[in-house]
Amino acid sequence: MASRGVDIAPAEGKLGILLVGLGAVSTTLVAGVEAIKRGISKPIGSLTQMGTIRLGKRTDARVPKIKDFVPLASLDDIVFGAWDIFSDNAFEAAMNAGVLEKDLLNQVSEQLASLKPMPAVFEQNYVKRLHGENIKTGKTKMELAEQLIEDIARFKSENGCDRLVMVWAASTEIFLEETDVHRSVEAFEKGLYDNDPAIAPSMIYAYAAIKSGVPFANGAPNLTADIPALTKLAEANRVPICGKDFKTGQTLMKTILAPGLKSRMLGLEGWYSTNILGNRDGEVLDDPENFKTKEESKLSVLEHILQPDVYPDLYDGFSHVVRINYYPPRGDNKEGWDAIDLFGWLGYTMQIKIDFLCRDSILAAPLALDLALFMDLAQRAGMKGVQEWLSFYFKAPQTAPGLYPEHDIFIQLMKLKNTLRHMKGEDLITHLGLEYYD
Ligand SMILES: NC(=O)c1ccc[n+]([C@@H]2O[C@H](COP(=O)([O-])OP(=O)(O)OC[C@H]3O[C@@H](n4cnc5c(N)ncnc54)[C@H](O)[C@@H]3O)[C@@H](O)[C@H]2O)c1
Repeated sequence: MASRGVDIAPAEGKLGILLVGLGAVSTTLVAGVEAIKRGISKPIGSLTQMGTIRLGKRTDARVPKIKDFVPLASLDDIVFGAWDIFSDNAFEAAMNAGVLEKDLLNQVSEQLASLKPMPAVFEQNYVKRLHGENIKTGKTKMELAEQLIEDIARFKSENGCDRLVMVWAASTEIFLEETDVHRSVEAFEKGLYDNDPAIAPSMIYAYAAIKSGVPFANGAPNLTADIPALTKLAEANRVPICGKDFKTGQTLMKTILAPGLKSRMLGLEGWYSTNILGNRDGEVLDDPENFKTKEESKLSVLEHILQPDVYPDLYDGFSHVVRINYYPPRGDNKEGWDAIDLFGWLGYTMQIKIDFLCRDSILAAPLALDLALFMDLAQRAGMKGVQEWLSFYFKAPQTAPGLYPEHDIFIQLMKLKNTLRHMKGEDLITHLGLEYYD
């Protein structure tokens, strides 16, 4: 079923990646891209840089790299910008984050030190544990949005960028539910003028991006652009958006393992997950209101993958518990434990234990890079609104209204690759073996 493909504008000129939050994930991304450009390291973990895509029949032996198949911006054409509530430059912030070794950071120190964060839009109530000084002031939330819109335009012209994308890699905000102010563009804009307390800082950034025609990806679980006001605005302004919450660590493992257990029709009694984490993200998530946002995001995956309503004998009423404990000695090196109680033939019980000694930002940085490059591609391909084909990268994928999210990582990857094939007018791959039939 080959389509004719879509017109994709070439990736000419510079791509500006605007990072909201210059913390562990962002500085690991910026330092990593610089190290890769210089040949110091390889882009491990990045599908856009290392992944391949099969085209046509298996016998055709056409398996190009994704970056050679679709026109993605080259790493040499990327310029980074950022906002943060702390004024530390990216070198200082990376040193504080303690993810990468000093030796590596020293090799790219000039590029990192030249990245200084612009003053942030911040509201204490949304992240109680942090107290920064690099913060914008304005009488109304609309004024703050306008200041961001000016920052975006200034960054673009000062850096000679052809295109921009924005990625939220700032702290997780407190839990919010959709209310009236989020339901239409008109209500939202009125709320910006009226300083409605239900409009979070992350929503102001997303609004500024969409108004500026800049694709917006949300790496945290905040509601942010997952509200009708902003999805409608993105559709109307023809801007791609996606989120939420980078799928790293424990949830990555869950969405790899759970589809496998289900594929063998093995039952689940319970899945207990706990983490210790000692970075700033861990400190923010130590606040119950911020943790609730993360908990909702992490809890949603199993229910959707296992479909207890379709398989009640296997999954009805399974217990799913997720905990995160702030434990400073571990820094960014999170440890995640899973205790999985499953059952097989005749109901006999079994257990699986996972102890994942992971590095949070090492897993997240390549996702942020891929998202920036794919969102830029989507915009050049004329795609707008929620980009479900990028669900692969998220714990709580944003979907079109009324649809449930796809969490199975293997289906997500197939959807992503088939979207790329479709863009280029290649046959979609169904894995159907027609050779068995006459
Ligand atoms: N690292 C991972 O594996 C991972 C996975 C999924 C999601 N995330 C999410 O990504 C985000 C970033 O993670 P991190 O480890 O880099 O955290 P971090 O605490 O190191 O960095 C976040 C930065 O955002 C800044 N910030 C907070 N509010 C801001 C605002 N309104 N505007 C601008 N800057 C603001 C903070 O000052 C901080 O420097 C978090 O929300 C985290 O939950 C991370």
